[in-house]
Amino acid sequence: MLKLSKIATVVAVAMSAGAAFTSTAFAGEVEVLHYWTSGGEAKSAAELKKMMQAKGHVWKDFAVAGGGGDAAATVLKSRVVSGNPPAAAQIKGPAIQEWASEGVLTNLDTVAAAEKWDTLLPPVVANVMKYKGHYVAVPVNVHRVNWIWANPEVLKKAGVAGMPKTYDEFFAAADKIKAAGLIAVAHGGQNWQDFTTFESVVLGVGGAKFYQDALVKLDAKAINSDTMKKSLETFRKIKGYTDSASSGRDWNLTTALVMQGKAGFQFMGDWAKGEFLAAGKVPGKDFLCAAAPGTSSSFTFNIDSFAMFKLKSADAQKAQNDLAAAIMSPEFQETFNLNKGSIPVRLNSKMDKFDDCAKLSAKDFVETSKTSSLVPSIAHSMAVSPAAEGAIKDAVSQFWNDDKITVAAAMKNIANAAAMK
Ligand code: GAL
Repeated sequence: MLKLSKIATVVAVAMSAGAAFTSTAFAGEVEVLHYWTSGGEAKSAAELKKMMQAKGHVWKDFAVAGGGGDAAATVLKSRVVSGNPPAAAQIKGPAIQEWASEGVLTNLDTVAAAEKWDTLLPPVVANVMKYKGHYVAVPVNVHRVNWIWANPEVLKKAGVAGMPKTYDEFFAAADKIKAAGLIAVAHGGQNWQDFTTFESVVLGVGGAKFYQDALVKLDAKAINSDTMKKSLETFRKIKGYTDSASSGRDWNLTTALVMQGKAGFQFMGDWAKGEFLAAGKVPGKDFLCAAAPGTSSSFTFNIDSFAMFKLKSADAQKAQNDLAAAIMSPEFQETFNLNKGSIPVRLNSKMDKFDDCAKLSAKDFVETSKTSSLVPSIAHSMAVSPAAEGAIKDAVSQFWNDDKITVAAAMKNIANAAAMK
């Protein structure tokens, strides 16, 4: 039985804790627009919600389904145009500059300075989050896009010895899986997934310099080169190993085909790993990760970030700043990325809880950042203007979907799309 004095102490402590809670209980509501609705994505987003609620804020989840974020971008535009923006929205790469130039994003310099972001972020990342030198967005993670995922049981059943390092090895493995009566390549037929595969093929066939010239600089000579011809031929050859239900299929339902042993490979960024992990699958045992053929010394980066919008209420602004600080905190960087399949964007983050796929990603991110083999993903809005990205994605998906479009015609269509830059 507690002594009276003890109870008084316990009550006093509870009161002070309560007082602390009360003072932040009115800290404000934070509405966050994102498109993380698959199993692994939703589990990861829930970590941010938990952290904000623990700070006493009200989390308003504004989730818009649709992998790759096209649907979310459309909804965001309508909200901003109607003068009612969310506190934060999942906006990445050059689109941050476009939104900032509209004058609708808030300045995060105070929280960035207090949390020393400039010392915690690679300059290439910090610069993407700034507009005219001021922070307007906070980065969440580093996804690697140039992966292939595989089911080791399927490979074994088909007599495939290991993960293919070249396209010759890849197609030999795909032939064996097809001969075993299984889907060799699980692919979701949506334009961002088509381009996720295409950009890995370009990187594997042409290398990082060619990738930069052709897909980032949109250089006409590179687009009209023999290397682009070979890339498109390789890309089209992959189509022959996909299943008839591929068209329009969401990426996570496609990952499920690999998970269930119905398919051998999937070209996808490491948010796919989040799906495997959310289903309780163990890397190295239930699924394998490897750099897409020919890309082991390159790294296609896709950095998720939240841009913050100008809000009127002081409470909402406080909640916004707490959100930004929470996202860059060591705790969130570890918990979120362990679930999401990505690696922390915060430099010097502890990696001991991460699996071998993530450790390989972290090692390669550092190594490729020292060479010119760290390249931005076009498929995931890291590289070119939204207009050019949309046009070039359409040109590539038309080629994927219509066998009557020749390689030469596709090169012409890509060159025309690139002119939108
Ligand atoms: C990417 C995004 C990832 C993941 C993926 C599938 O653009 O950066 O976090 O959500 O789309 O939706």
